[in-house]
Amino acid sequence: MKYGFFDDNAREYVITRPDTPYPWINYIGCEGYFGILSATAGGYSYYRDARLRRLTRGRYNNVPQDNGGRYVYVRDNEDGDFWSPSWMPTQSEVEDYSCRHGMGYSTIGSKRNGIRVSNRYFVPLGETLEIWQLTVTNERLVPADLSLFSSVEFCLWDALDDQSNFQRNLSTGQVEVEEGVIYHKTEYRERRNHFAYFACSEELAGFDTQREDFLGAWRGWDKPAAVAEGKSRNSVAHGWSPMGSHHVKMTLAPGETRQVIFVLGYHENDKDEKFDPPGSQTINKKTVLPVISKYLAAENVEAAFEALNRHWDDLLGVYQAETPDEHSNRMINIWNAYQCMATFNMSRSASSFESGIGRGLGFRDSNQDLLGFVHMVPSRARERILDIAATQLSSGGAYHQYQPLTKKGNNDIGGDFNDDPHWLIIGVAAYLKETGDFSILEEPVVFDNQPGTEEPLYVHLQRSMQYALDRLGPHGLPLIGRADWNDCLNLNCFSDTPGESFQTTTSKDGKVAESVFIAGVMVLSARELSDIAKESGRSQDAETYAKVATDMDATIREHGWDGDWFLRAYDDFGRPVGSKENEEGKIFIESQGFCVLAGVGVDDGKARKALDSVAKHLATPHGIVVLQPAYTKYYIEYGEISTYPPGYKENAGIFCHNNPWVVIGETVLGNGDAAFDYYTRINPSAREGISDTHRLEPYVYAQMIAGRDATRHGEAKNSWLTGTAAWNYYAITQFILGIRPEYEGLRVAPVIPERWTGFSVKRIWRGVTYDITITRKGKGNDVHLTVDGKAIEGNLIAPPAEGTKAVKVEAVIG
Ligand code: BGC
Ligand code: NOJ
Repeated sequence: MKYGFFDDNAREYVITRPDTPYPWINYIGCEGYFGILSATAGGYSYYRDARLRRLTRGRYNNVPQDNGGRYVYVRDNEDGDFWSPSWMPTQSEVEDYSCRHGMGYSTIGSKRNGIRVSNRYFVPLGETLEIWQLTVTNERLVPADLSLFSSVEFCLWDALDDQSNFQRNLSTGQVEVEEGVIYHKTEYRERRNHFAYFACSEELAGFDTQREDFLGAWRGWDKPAAVAEGKSRNSVAHGWSPMGSHHVKMTLAPGETRQVIFVLGYHENDKDEKFDPPGSQTINKKTVLPVISKYLAAENVEAAFEALNRHWDDLLGVYQAETPDEHSNRMINIWNAYQCMATFNMSRSASSFESGIGRGLGFRDSNQDLLGFVHMVPSRARERILDIAATQLSSGGAYHQYQPLTKKGNNDIGGDFNDDPHWLIIGVAAYLKETGDFSILEEPVVFDNQPGTEEPLYVHLQRSMQYALDRLGPHGLPLIGRADWNDCLNLNCFSDTPGESFQTTTSKDGKVAESVFIAGVMVLSARELSDIAKESGRSQDAETYAKVATDMDATIREHGWDGDWFLRAYDDFGRPVGSKENEEGKIFIESQGFCVLAGVGVDDGKARKALDSVAKHLATPHGIVVLQPAYTKYYIEYGEISTYPPGYKENAGIFCHNNPWVVIGETVLGNGDAAFDYYTRINPSAREGISDTHRLEPYVYAQMIAGRDATRHGEAKNSWLTGTAAWNYYAITQFILGIRPEYEGLRVAPVIPERWTGFSVKRIWRGVTYDITITRKGKGNDVHLTVDGKAIEGNLIAPPAEGTKAVKVEAVIG
């Protein structure tokens, strides 16, 4: 069953019934101010750091799940009937409900008893505020006497403290209300120089800032007493739970429409100019008032919304494809690219499954995310790379995570995840191919944030590789450390204490357990580093790293092959993991996908055999599972992977991040049908029709779909913030459609399904627009190119003459 539909022309997913199987969310904001916004107006907002600068409250593990947000209540003052146009929280019956989730905005509305209300939420570019642009229309034949109530619940900034330190927090809350604007200023009296504000374009009939007064004792958001009675309390919060609510009264003639604008924002004052008059305790509003009045004016709001749309035209316009498959088209052109930007902005911090208080930015995650957004925001990708590299340790190792506010490595988690350093090389390579900006390699970057330790970025890449070379195990394969990409394969952990972290506990010296997966990654990263060296005129290094790649390739084929597939690892006892010798966990996806992607075993048939084994043992109609057979009990020598019940997460779940490695692997072997088939199995749009099974948003990828051993096979979890976004985008755009930037030019190497008669792509690369039309004339993947009317040899389009703006490419394949 479906709960909505794609409106591709509007770049929107339209949810047509509010009771989706799970809250289906969107994000607003794309620079510093962000919000999670569900289809029923639930969610919260924050400035830059979802833990430390949380503006409004959103409770996790709530009942019902999605309760609390940016609610508006409408009250019919004639009969006292009140409801929420977003269905939640009153859950009143409404007609024509719809939520249009778009690029950085959502419009939610419905109609009840002839009153139509629609509310568009978005964050203007360059601002630290959100707008609720609400329209009310009286579709009755008689005048309507209405009240509107807005509502948000303020968070006392530190989201973790806010939900745990009640003995203090219930006494610290402070607000000001001036000229109809509600200011939340908890802790502004002391060390904070920021506050939140909530303003309304209309004259107020009243307001509330104390939750208990607005709701009434023993009442919830579904029936606030102030709304039920049509009367605000004009409460001023002292302690307890500060909130913001405006009350607007209006009488609408039949057919009349009125717009009401609400502005919720974050503002900082200079430390020395916090108060006005100086020495008082009153917020200095001189710098915030112009911002507020700007956005209470409808024409400025419209202009800001148009600017936001143009921003997304520009981002998405870099790669647009027209293929015979609508699911691919809308993921490539709209949603997958959009999700890649969400991972750029949010990393793994705030979603329905990430509480915003847990993780910082992951070293490996952020580098892989680059693959999905570097073409849209190259200069911000550059900044990101330099930030990440500055957290690298001088050994070449990496903090597993770093904090976005301080940009410092996170000591609690530490390092020794031995795949981490390789991703920096892979991320930088993607940046260089996209931009040709080799100056980044010479950029001086510190180690571990220590001033005085600067070395060119290129040296950081060398250290990454050296770190790996210094950590080879008994078979010459890379030692795994605490874990590799699979955070739950903890071969040195041996934890028997409940609650101990599998990622930070290490009980072994780590000199035995090796990872065949990292070996595959190393073949790729060594080759990338060799190319980087070559392209930047370091020919000696180029040879050295090329040899690292071929040596590791040989080591994998010698010690990492199990007969029908690649092994996954060797454990601390030197025993194979992911081998036919194992009782459970005989075959894993990661080493098959990555080794083939990196080209290992392509010439001697191992690669084909490995992917045939994937098809035979791991593929399901819902995607490819991590391993088989699933672990049915806890293996102390394997760690967290065996803590999950069979079929979930790393224990034989379908981890959508690694499926595209197999997709790319199939393209490396020239098999477009298999590649596209795997791609489609986890494509959320292609799964829209089974929303009751999949349950999460059909417009974005989820990290995990329950595997075949799970009771709810096919059910997704952890949507939005996952490396799945970047890797699937990368797989379809650069390997199936095959349009990929390289050092010497733009490669056109499609490996598409046999039944496709062709497709077209518009790709803006280094300032030139390539209009590429591909036509299939026969079987196979051979490409014949005509560039601006001239036939050329091979499938690489060399950069055009200076000043060229557009290039027309016709490709015939088969
Ligand atoms: C999850 C992994 C995740 C890790 C992060 C584990 O519990 O299963 O997917 O990478 O936590 O610390
Ligand atoms: C999620 C983590 O963010 C990522 O770093 C890891 O590779 C996967 N889980 C697999 O464990």
